[in-house]
Amino acid sequence: MSSSQNQLIQSELITRQVINWQKSHGRHQLPWQQDVTPYKVLVSELMLQQTQVATVIPYFQRWMQAFPTVQALAAAPEDEVMRLWQGLGYYARARNLQKAARHITALGEFPATLDALLQVPGVGRYTAGAIMSFAYQQHGPIVDGNVRRLYCRLFALEGVPNTPALEKQLWAKAELLTPEHQEPHADCRAFAQGLLDLGATVCKPRQPLCEQCPLSSHCLALAQQRISDFPNAKPKKTVPVKDGHFLLVRKAQQVLLVKRPGAGIWPALWCLPQPAQAPLDGVLVGEFSHQFTHYKLQAKVWSADLSIEEAEQSWVDAANLADFGLPAPVRVYLEALLNA
Ligand code: ADE
Repeated sequence: MSSSQNQLIQSELITRQVINWQKSHGRHQLPWQQDVTPYKVLVSELMLQQTQVATVIPYFQRWMQAFPTVQALAAAPEDEVMRLWQGLGYYARARNLQKAARHITALGEFPATLDALLQVPGVGRYTAGAIMSFAYQQHGPIVDGNVRRLYCRLFALEGVPNTPALEKQLWAKAELLTPEHQEPHADCRAFAQGLLDLGATVCKPRQPLCEQCPLSSHCLALAQQRISDFPNAKPKKTVPVKDGHFLLVRKAQQVLLVKRPGAGIWPALWCLPQPAQAPLDGVLVGEFSHQFTHYKLQAKVWSADLSIEEAEQSWVDAANLADFGLPAPVRVYLEALLNA
């Protein structure tokens, strides 16, 4: 038998084993797996892009109650969209989700091919593949952080994640292994979910449970006893620290919040006023920090006694804080302060 025939047989085996394992050992009770629709997949996948499943679940449920259809999301006020996202971070995802909903609403029907999905704003190759697999039970290759780790180990792929050379190899593996819907035993949904479930629960970043893995007999990293070498580590880079200044302006039990601009960090969220520099006569009353992707924010909170004229401002007391979309670290700081 030629080596390419061998490879094909091995690929089919791997695909079949992922599907069988998912059916008996995978997750079946996640809220976005119930009465699956393309819209639910879009929402859950965008939420899951940078956030753990356990964190996403309550957000997903609140979101589906507030915006049960793609049309409801398209028509929602931006403030409401941001409020329901607040705490999940990476707010561009919320913006993109609403842009996507408007695009799809204008189309009149949810796109149902990989090419048409890739035209939707905010939908990349991974999300398009996930929608094809989960919502339509069709061929939809996916590579995310979990899948990347699994394939790097399974095929001992060298290279740093997110470099074009490695990504090309990963997507080629995904293309090869992902079932076509017309193939016998193809369960495109179980395959995609199986990869994600294996990555999350077995082929974990640290201390993977190789003895429980249905793919262990195919795994090159395991055979070479080099599991911890894959995926190859990124060269370390130091993240810069930036100071940020915040004003605490209080009146009786209330604190002044202003609405941030629609672009940049924390778009359209409510926040303490932010002067460009520390106020000359300010008294430092608090500090908090927050890790963004590219830098660490070291926040200094200054007591101030000013009347600020912003386009949108509100005096808020502790009981009403929950009605405002606030950046998570600002909320944590204010809740501790106002409830003290
Ligand atoms: N991570 C990304 N997508 C997921 C999904 N559909 N289920 C569980 N974890 C995921």
